[in-house]
Amino acid sequence: MTILAIETSCDETAIAIYKDKKVKSNIIFSQIANHQQYGGVVPEIASRLHISKISYVLKEAIKQAQIQYNDIDYIGYTDHPGLSGSLHIGKVCAQTISLMLKKPLIACNHIEGHIYSAAINNEFKFPLITLVVSGGHTQLVLMKKHLDFHILGETYDDAVGEAYDKVARLLELEYPGGPIIDKIAKKGQNIFELPLGKNDNSFDFSFSGLKSAVANLIKKLNARQLQFRKEDIACSFQEQATNILIKKITTAMKKYHPKMITVVGGVAANSVLRTKVENLATKNTTVIIPNNKYCTDNAAMIARLTWQIINNRLKDVSKKKK
Ligand code: KG4
Ligand code: ZN
Repeated sequence: MTILAIETSCDETAIAIYKDKKVKSNIIFSQIANHQQYGGVVPEIASRLHISKISYVLKEAIKQAQIQYNDIDYIGYTDHPGLSGSLHIGKVCAQTISLMLKKPLIACNHIEGHIYSAAINNEFKFPLITLVVSGGHTQLVLMKKHLDFHILGETYDDAVGEAYDKVARLLELEYPGGPIIDKIAKKGQNIFELPLGKNDNSFDFSFSGLKSAVANLIKKLNARQLQFRKEDIACSFQEQATNILIKKITTAMKKYHPKMITVVGGVAANSVLRTKVENLATKNTTVIIPNNKYCTDNAAMIARLTWQIINNRLKDVSKKKK
């Protein structure tokens, strides 16, 4: 089975070819450099760049996978959530290929795509707890079987990735904030006392308090003309942001006894979070964090999700026939 998948929900134009359950190509055109001067993604610029790059990304994906258009059996694409203009361009491209080849079109949920990024190189074991940490979402999800998603908790306000981006802006660092905070925090020390956010036994999150605490800290230090190192603030923020994520996973482990824990989404590329989550592994619980290239937005994860949707549908059809 050969799947062509398209992801254009935000500022990455991405197309992947997935054949016989293997990623054959995974092409990503990142628009980050085009949005950096504005400190965040500008939706209109994102849409226009998707239009101008998608044909090139498509050609490259087909070429690198060494396939022909006629080899494609299914087309998967990100349908929601995301920026509407950006999503529309991926959808129109997917619909055109589907019409041209007369092959089925599979609409995918972006968050479910992130969740299936952990299944690109691994088989899921259930019950599974997954922490979704992206720029727009922070969710703790329980899965008892494939494509069965129970949201245990989510953020009341900022997503953790959004908090990274906003703290980076407060520190006058570049966009996106996650990678640069991750980098400079390595040279810093956890010397500033910052709040944990929603530190209770629920599975919900809140990151706006932590972000505001960083803003107040910087204001206070500046008002008193005290010298400070951005590295130390980055490190102190990152410690608390990751501590609360770990606390929620640990609480869920006690309640649901998962056989597998996964962390997915852009913030799963964070080096401190990766180490802390890896330390949660036990003889009964395997920890899977995808390779960095599958954490941030990509189409391989949409292809893997498409494969799962088709597989489940084919199984249902064969069950009905019996
Ligand atoms: O999943 P993603 O690529 O896009 C969305 O669906 O939102 O996530 C982007 C987010 C951004 O907020 C970015 O700052 C964050 O992921 N991010 C990181 C790291 N790399 C990307 N956050 C912390 N540490 C990183 N190394
Ligand atoms: Zn994403």
